[in-house]
Amino acid sequence: MTESAFINITELTREFKNKTALEQITLSIQEGELFGLVGPDGAGKTTLLRILAGLLQITAGQVVAAGYDLNKEPEEIKPHIGYMAQEFSLYEKLSVVENLMFFADLYNVDVKEQEDRIQKLLSFAGLTEFKNRRAAHLSGGMQKKLALATTLLHEPPLLLLDEPTTGVDPISRREFWNILTDLHLNGTTIIVSTPYMDEADRCSRVGLMYQGELVICDSPVNIRNLLDGDLVKITTSDWQEAHTVLAPLAGVKEIQTYGEALHILVDSGKTRLPQLTRALKEHNLAVDEARTASPRMEEAFISLIRKMDQVN
Ligand SMILES: Nc1ncnc2c1ncn2[C@@H]1O[C@H](COP(=O)(O)OP(=O)(O)O)[C@@H](O)[C@H]1O
Ligand SMILES: [Mg+2]
Repeated sequence: MTESAFINITELTREFKNKTALEQITLSIQEGELFGLVGPDGAGKTTLLRILAGLLQITAGQVVAAGYDLNKEPEEIKPHIGYMAQEFSLYEKLSVVENLMFFADLYNVDVKEQEDRIQKLLSFAGLTEFKNRRAAHLSGGMQKKLALATTLLHEPPLLLLDEPTTGVDPISRREFWNILTDLHLNGTTIIVSTPYMDEADRCSRVGLMYQGELVICDSPVNIRNLLDGDLVKITTSDWQEAHTVLAPLAGVKEIQTYGEALHILVDSGKTRLPQLTRALKEHNLAVDEARTASPRMEEAFISLIRKMDQVN
């Protein structure tokens, strides 16, 4: 661990009454990183973000963020962060611009600077033409952008975003991420949790959480490279039977199901693809699609989580 990291988390544990939500997490994040947190529901993402936001007490371990020791001074960090909660709330009856004015007051933004910053954020978030619309009447994607804008009013160096795009359509998700990329390029440190693997791919580093533990933390390319071997994607008339047929074959390391499709990790796609399709045909299974593909982070994560389940 480097002393100079912007955020140093050391053996962080958080317990609730009868649940360990975080177990001995150790993680350093450098200034300016766009760091993604992924993991299934209940993994501990929200708990970690709330601790970093100074909203939740630490049970054991140490967290130093932006120079503040969160065991000792959780309140002091608050002016330096922008926190967008998973269940964020806007004032639905207020217009876009009124919401921004409300939060500018809340964050004690100098009155002389408020108007200028609000105009800039409206434009930055693509909300200028909707500035007089009530928050209740914005699309889901625009509400998320407004919520993000409210967290930026006091120009925090650290942004903590908890699933900011969940449930939003793909185009709005892309727009939201373009804004995050701009902030990242301007030097803001961002920690963002997401259930979407394509979003995790846009991060400089990604941490996978599972059952309160940090399973792995690395760049997207290194995580993808953890899977040695190739991926074969096969869709058949009966994925369950196909699974049974393929699992024992030579060269098959692992099979993951994605709806009707099977993603099969093999030692060599070129060698195994014809063997696999032949085996399926011998069992009278119609092969709708069979091709090799590059492994994505999603396959790598599922593989890692399975290995953890086998160990536990
Ligand atoms: N206030 C709380 N009281 C009791 N258990 C909690 C509380 N908050 C979270 N948990 C539990 O801690 C675990 C981690 O939750 P959370 O951090 O919300 O995960 P995630 O955001 O990854 O879905 C879950 O098992 C959850 O039920
Ligand atoms: Mg959560």
